[in-house]
Amino acid sequence: MYYPDEIVEEVRSRNDIVDVINGYVGLKRKGNTYTACCPFHNEKTPSFHVSREKQMYHCFGCGAGGNVFTFLMEYEHYSFPEAVKYLADRAGMELPEQKLSGEEKQKESRKVQLREVNKSAAAYYHYLLTKTERGKKGLEYFRKRGLSYETIQRFGLGYADFGPNGLYQYLKQKNYPDDLMRDAGLIEFDEKRGPHDRFWNRVMVPILDINGKVVAFGGRVLGDAKPKYLNTKETEIFDKSHMLFALHLARRSRRRGMILCEGYMDVIAMHQAGFDNATASLGTAFTIGQANLIKRYTKEVYLAYDSDEAGVNAALKAIGILRSIGLSQRVINLKPYKDPDELIQGAGKEAFEERIRDAVPGLMFEIEQMRKAYNLNDPEGKTEFLHNVARKLAMLTDAVARNSYIETVSRQYMLDAGILKATVTQYGLSGDYETVPPPPEPDRKKPTGSLTQQGLLLTWLANRPELFRKLDGIISEKDFTEGDCFVVAEALFEQYRTTGKVNPAAIVNRFDDVDKQSIAAGMLQTELPFETSDEEMVRAVTDVVRKIKLESVERELSDNQDPKRFPELIRKKQELLKLHISL
Ligand code: GTP
Ligand code: MN
Repeated sequence: MYYPDEIVEEVRSRNDIVDVINGYVGLKRKGNTYTACCPFHNEKTPSFHVSREKQMYHCFGCGAGGNVFTFLMEYEHYSFPEAVKYLADRAGMELPEQKLSGEEKQKESRKVQLREVNKSAAAYYHYLLTKTERGKKGLEYFRKRGLSYETIQRFGLGYADFGPNGLYQYLKQKNYPDDLMRDAGLIEFDEKRGPHDRFWNRVMVPILDINGKVVAFGGRVLGDAKPKYLNTKETEIFDKSHMLFALHLARRSRRRGMILCEGYMDVIAMHQAGFDNATASLGTAFTIGQANLIKRYTKEVYLAYDSDEAGVNAALKAIGILRSIGLSQRVINLKPYKDPDELIQGAGKEAFEERIRDAVPGLMFEIEQMRKAYNLNDPEGKTEFLHNVARKLAMLTDAVARNSYIETVSRQYMLDAGILKATVTQYGLSGDYETVPPPPEPDRKKPTGSLTQQGLLLTWLANRPELFRKLDGIISEKDFTEGDCFVVAEALFEQYRTTGKVNPAAIVNRFDDVDKQSIAAGMLQTELPFETSDEEMVRAVTDVVRKIKLESVERELSDNQDPKRFPELIRKKQELLKLHISL
């Protein structure tokens, strides 16, 4: 950390979160909390809550949340030290002098430095592209692809030169240390050749994190050479599986839902055409981590994947992932074009708008792909297809939706609606179908639903610290195995152990990434969704504790190949089934 913890904590406690946030968005008092329409997503009814008691905020709509520092980092795009500085000034506090040169600089958080060197690199590439003779080639390439100068500016596009170490010399002259350039993935060092730039003779696309800070680059060759794209390797600040290209822009879009595509050139073309809710994963398959990022801002995803076979398969996978976390999915048909970029170049933005309107629900897309495996003119093929469709439709728990799918599907594939319906019911009753979470509620309060069991128990602990005593000897921070839960649990247990109290707002600072801060704040701040009687509480806590404990025993059983321990673990398991916690 940049400033010592005690200082940070003092700055925090001298700035009441309600007053600070009230300076940005008008808060209305409602019992113990203050509410407003969320400044981080588009809404008409207020889901944004600020608690004076906990000194935290949380939005039930988009999941944004944190303490007073997080708020400024999200709202003003401040870095953490900037937020501390601002609030210290606001409270009239003197901060210890920070000398930002030479030796002192080493102490500054590594991540801040990594972002800084990336920012300089982006400036260098952008300068080469837009201001130099050598950059003309790159500029010409972007022009040929239909990008305007404004788009080039908005995305900070650039060009990496032919020479082997232009960037290296530039960064050297700005006094960045070699190991920093290496750790940022910008310069590679090898014994024979010495330092050389990772990227050369490519057009460069800076990749920005959710706060709009450059964390990596993608470089594309100007011609047909291989590899077509070269990205920064994963670094301390660049985790591809938890990152989406242009999400910092898409999350502020006023358009409905988000459009997910395969390539970042597609995203750039779409934003230029006005579809500024487009985003893409970075050359890796779409992950559940990315889906959860999207979920913070919207409930609806439009897939604009390439129309080739690989794209169809990737779309099918993405549908499953989105469904599993309760996001709705629609698939945009791009044919005969290969990708969104080509469709917009070839048919224009109105055509794309139309394709969005005609996008089919994920379920219809899956059925359409399924159909390809059967010959519907063959009675057996048709029967098998009908069974598979029925099993799929049985996952719909809402009767209205189920019936309208049955109607549409039977019309489209010339299946007998009555028979299809009877078969769906049959699968439904036998429980032989994929289960899916209920459809998301459109932009309304989303209570603790998205918390895992571990997160839920942390919510309880933060809200009712007396539980620590009750659970003493039964559960400890070690039982919280999910990464973020563990960090929160560790801090919470430590606070309770040393002070007998909990201080949720101080825990948030253990995460230096705003997204993680929001997740932590969600666990710590979320009010219990209903008033619980002691009895219900006991039952719920027992359930959660048992589940967490069982999971950890299961894990031990599967990790531990020593048969001598099996009886002991199995006994533990049996005891857990009988567990009862008394208040
Ligand atoms: P253009 O030919 O520039 O229009 O590319 P595209 O946007 O049509 O990209 P394509 O469908 O070929 O690839 C989609 C995404 O996959 C790209 O944005 C990259 O992130 C990634 N990708 C494609 N080719 C490569 C490659 O050779 N190496 C790496 N690392 N990633 C690639
Ligand atoms: Mn393309």
